[in-house]
Amino acid sequence: MIERLDALEAEAARAFDAAQDGGALEETRVRHLGRKSELTRILRGLKDLSPADRASVGARANRLRESLERRYEEVRARLASASSPAGPSSGHDVTLPGRSIPRGHQHLISQVLHEVREIFHGMGFALAEGPDVEDDWHNFEALNIPKGHPARATTDTFYLRPDVLLRTHTSSVQIRVMEKQQPPVRIICPGRAYRNEAVDATHHFEFHQVEGLYVDEDVALADLKGTLDQFLKEFFGPGTEMRFSPSYFPFTEPSAQVEIRCFFCGGKGCGVCGPLSGGWLEVLGAGMVHPSVFRAVGYDPERWTGFAFGAGIERLVMLRHAVPDIRLFYENDVRFLHQF
Ligand code: DAH
Repeated sequence: MIERLDALEAEAARAFDAAQDGGALEETRVRHLGRKSELTRILRGLKDLSPADRASVGARANRLRESLERRYEEVRARLASASSPAGPSSGHDVTLPGRSIPRGHQHLISQVLHEVREIFHGMGFALAEGPDVEDDWHNFEALNIPKGHPARATTDTFYLRPDVLLRTHTSSVQIRVMEKQQPPVRIICPGRAYRNEAVDATHHFEFHQVEGLYVDEDVALADLKGTLDQFLKEFFGPGTEMRFSPSYFPFTEPSAQVEIRCFFCGGKGCGVCGPLSGGWLEVLGAGMVHPSVFRAVGYDPERWTGFAFGAGIERLVMLRHAVPDIRLFYENDVRFLHQF
């Protein structure tokens, strides 16, 4: 009996090693370990043996069963790792529909910054950039807003040190560009600006602006008007009507508040443009560069002339897409974001 078990072991081991696929392996398992296998028969017959034989044959037969089961597992693991991971024997159902991965896209503000850049690029404006952390000179002083000037009170500034701050507007980049470069200058600067504002539907402590600057000989207010008219028509649509109203900025003279006819009510006055606006929406500030600004950067104000403008990106976007609350841009709720 012991010899028979030795022979069985050799035979079964060869058969397991020869199995090339799951089917052949299963057949071998049934033949050598199954209910009707010779080994099972021997194990079942143990009870009929003499106590001495039962002990020795039983021990040998049980060892054989354990060794064959181990061999079976080894071969099964080898075959599974050799077959392709998504193959039919791997336990994956290749016919199930796949799980789709939601696709992201640029934030609406980033899209619009890009679009604004493209529009001005088409009119010959180059891109300029400056730091978000600015010094007092570039953000205020050189823009004709000296210490104690009332215009300082109109922006609640985040100071890092007495002379270092988060820029309150992108106008600081005008100064940086003119300090480095001689006219002609034609740049736009899209970027972030910061003000210590209480947050509400139309105010945020962090927002985006686009600044524009054009310096050359004989630049006239008409050039400013033509440039902005073109921009606003491309941004809001070809039927957009624009007008200038007198305004005040320390860094421009004259200064204008630029408005477009309300496209929600057509100029009759509504919830968007307000009952007192007469149907006009303020969209940006602009003007002719002040001689003091030219002097601050070392340009001769007798020779050079220029215009500048600054627009709040969130405001432009809120108007064009009827977004009721500036906070929506910063909450990152995908139900809002995926609409654009
Ligand atoms: N810096 C102004 C602001 O933040 C916007 C502005 C107005 C920029 C007139 C200009 C300008 O360059 O000429 O409100």
